[in-house]
Amino acid sequence: MMSFPENFMWGGATAANQIEGGWNLDGKGDSTSDHLTVGGMKSPRRFTTEIKDDEYYPSHEAIDHYHHYKEDIALFAEMGFKAYRLSINWTRIFPHGDENQPNEKGIAFYRSIFQECRKYDIEPIVDLSHYELPFYLAKHYGGWTNRKLIDFFCHYCQTVFEAYQGLVHYWITFVEINILAHPFGAFSAGGILPEKDGPTMDYARLMRGEPDPVDELTKRYQALHYQLVASAEAVAIAHAIDKNNKVGCNIAGAACYPFTCNPEDVLLAQQSMMNGNYYCGDVQVRGEYPGFAKRFLKEKGIKIIMEPEDAEILKKGTVDYYSFSYYMSGCASADASKAKAAGNMSVGTKNPYLKSSEWGWQIDPEGLRWYLNEVYGRYHIPVLLAENGLGAVDHLEPDGSIHDSYRIDYMREHIKAMDEAVKDGVDLMGYLSWGCIDLVSASTGEMSKRYGMIYVDKNNDGTGNLSRKKKDSFRWYQKVIQSNGKMID
Ligand code: BG6
Repeated sequence: MMSFPENFMWGGATAANQIEGGWNLDGKGDSTSDHLTVGGMKSPRRFTTEIKDDEYYPSHEAIDHYHHYKEDIALFAEMGFKAYRLSINWTRIFPHGDENQPNEKGIAFYRSIFQECRKYDIEPIVDLSHYELPFYLAKHYGGWTNRKLIDFFCHYCQTVFEAYQGLVHYWITFVEINILAHPFGAFSAGGILPEKDGPTMDYARLMRGEPDPVDELTKRYQALHYQLVASAEAVAIAHAIDKNNKVGCNIAGAACYPFTCNPEDVLLAQQSMMNGNYYCGDVQVRGEYPGFAKRFLKEKGIKIIMEPEDAEILKKGTVDYYSFSYYMSGCASADASKAKAAGNMSVGTKNPYLKSSEWGWQIDPEGLRWYLNEVYGRYHIPVLLAENGLGAVDHLEPDGSIHDSYRIDYMREHIKAMDEAVKDGVDLMGYLSWGCIDLVSASTGEMSKRYGMIYVDKNNDGTGNLSRKKKDSFRWYQKVIQSNGKMID
């Protein structure tokens, strides 16, 4: 028997820049993500300072959710969603990010989305920042390396908390905040612009596992500190505006195992968990930097500025729940010659026991049970699985059907693993399948890396008629939700 509680939040998740399109409509400003071209598995997305006519920028139209949101939310409702996680694009509310007055059309757009969700009893879970930032703030302020961004962000948060009071109760501050330490996150979420136009990351260097230069790391960890302070302030503002607001952190859940029982591997894996997952998690849940984070910064030669008041802000702004994304696991090995596996903005030693997705991400449902127990055991606050899914190439049959049994298998095994974790005692709030509708891949900009249970007719080059079609996984997930996880075969 499956053990999910009656109020379990089954649903799906998306991000504004990967789904909305309408990048310059109704007063919206351009965000960092709007400056990213399409890439591929081994050819990173490129950044251009100016928007060029001869480049293709996938976020500009994405899947045009901007004009299809009613149809899309109706499909989510038909699947039986209890919750839908989406992000607000800051540039729709404040096109430059530093204005006093919000763009009313942007406010109206999200209000209409939330009302549409409520019409179907779908609980909106709203991200305040998912891999984007007003480009103006990146260009003119240096992005999150500038402390002024804390105030701009808090003003934006206060504006949306007030505008949507009563409509939204669940918030997430920064999605996958720990990815800011990675070149892609540094650009898109941190607004730290590369010196010149070009690739957002050195893929070969990443695969070799070489660390980035100290000056780059310093900027990223400084930006991360300001985001952690901003997140804590946002939590306090949300609670002051409405005591029913629940605010979560969000961590890219990078599960890491020792490659062997060699104590060196065991320690490396532990350090990877600490610096990769618990660095941010500890600050956001416990309200202070853990000792290993301070040691990490010191040993890497990373000097960051922390103001005296920051400690108190962090203490007062701890989150109500821990949310995370989980796609795969990796290993740590003291032997650098071991084969590497790519992951969610990360690279680890390849695990010979696991199969991989077409994009090389190692599929590990058992690791989800392990991860859930690790984080719940550490924090003892409710946990939300905010993203999980399989990026795969789907084939549209002549009759319009899409037989994605591989996606069903992936989700089924992860749901079983969650069930085991709930039986272990983990207080799990819900399961949100990533990219419940096909959307633009964050890392590659491709459409062919599909996650959805709803197919969207859109191709890597931007062609396609944007029509929506139900995949086999659509009907399967519908049954899972109807039976509260009991019917998963
Ligand atoms: C998560 C991000 O890390 O991974 C999403 O929050 C992203 O934005 C998802 O889409 C899957 O990654 P990708 O690169 O396959 O789109």
